[in-house]
Amino acid sequence: MTKEITEIKKITNGVEGWLTDEEGETLYNLAKNCTGRGVIVEIGSWKGKSTIWLAKGSNAGNKTKIYAIDPHNGSPEHQKVFEKINTLESFKKNIKNAKVEDIVYPIVKTSEEAAASFDHSVELIFIDGNHEYDSVKKDFEIWFPKLINNGTIVFHDTTQYEGPKKVVKDNLYMSRNFRHIKFTETSMVYAKKVEQNSTMDQIENRCALYSKYLYTIKFYTKYWMDIIKKKIGKVLLHKK
Ligand SMILES: C[S@@+](CC[C@H](N)C(=O)[O-])C[C@H]1O[C@@H](n2cnc3c(N)ncnc32)[C@H](O)[C@@H]1O
Repeated sequence: MTKEITEIKKITNGVEGWLTDEEGETLYNLAKNCTGRGVIVEIGSWKGKSTIWLAKGSNAGNKTKIYAIDPHNGSPEHQKVFEKINTLESFKKNIKNAKVEDIVYPIVKTSEEAAASFDHSVELIFIDGNHEYDSVKKDFEIWFPKLINNGTIVFHDTTQYEGPKKVVKDNLYMSRNFRHIKFTETSMVYAKKVEQNSTMDQIENRCALYSKYLYTIKFYTKYWMDIIKKKIGKVLLHKK
């Protein structure tokens, strides 16, 4: 691990969010590899954890601008837990602390509102907004045309959330427009857009999908085993 990655982990570990370090590093590398043929877009920033990884990667590469789109009032799953949400101030503070405010352009709107007046080509897009199926599908449909060929699309939460899981299956793994689909534990999927993929690409994509299914089985087996172990542990403790 490089010194820079260790430093970024220190910063991002202090920022509330759900991204793993491995997923953060994936975003860092994808942003670092951007050539500048288009900008970087993030749908769903919350308090800036993923934004910081993207921005640090971009700074290590061609300093491509990052448009961080979020209405900052949370997703339905957050609104159920917290009464009133406003993440904008924490987001700004975290971006400033990470010293990346010169490269991050916050857009305080929903993905759909932002897309309506967004006229830049996109080289890298990270989709991590509202996880309900209709919303993720809409995010895909409105941003896909703005993504350049050979540009990269990334989705988060494709293991536990049915919305992103179905959208990546239907629109990446089974599509003629993507190749080199990769998965980063625990839930991130990314792929390169192409005009039309080859038969070999389709076979590779199908194999990648089966390997993701296997990961999901492993993930849920561990998840349920941990719960069962905890329950048995409690029962045994009571018996003593
Ligand atoms: C899971 S959080 C994002 C976490 C963030 N990417 C990170 O790694 O720390 C989802 C975010 O999506 C935002 N959101 C919800 N609906 C949205 C929409 N339609 N467009 C853009 N962002 C949305 C919420 O406000 C919330 O901050």
